[in-house]
Amino acid sequence: MRITINRLKIFAVALIALPVLAMVLLNSVLAQDTGGATTDATATYAAKCKMCHGLKAEKNFDTTLTDDQMVEVVLKGKQAQRPPNMPAFETKGINADQAKALVAYMKSLRQ
Ligand code: HEC
Repeated sequence: MRITINRLKIFAVALIALPVLAMVLLNSVLAQDTGGATTDATATYAAKCKMCHGLKAEKNFDTTLTDDQMVEVVLKGKQAQRPPNMPAFETKGINADQAKALVAYMKSLRQ
């Protein structure tokens, strides 16, 4: 009888622990999938760009520029006709790849 109860306990623990474990593993796999550039750009845009460029990148975003020109502006900044200017983000820890992802993200917002 005692053995049976112990087995039941182990079974119950496994029953609870396995789905939790599975969820943790699944979560980390999903995080890797959606992580990287896209999530990065989304979070960075919300934190550092949205206040000047708007929710849908509708402000201060000339879509006729080429990608390279836009990336250059993100990295080096740009003097606007009227303040505020576009800050240079290269010195604020944004590299060329991240700038590219941000430009792509801004363009996707405009579609
Ligand atoms: C303080 C306000 C401000 C912030 C913050 C800001 N920008 Fe800008 N940005 C501007 C202005 C103003 C211009 C347009 C300059 C001009 O052409 O007159 C601009 C231009 C740009 C351009 C080129 C398009 C164009 O029309 O010149 C890109 C791309 C861009 N910003 C991306 C970003 C990204 C990405 C971030 C966040 C990492 C960001 N900006 C943060 C103000 C800002």
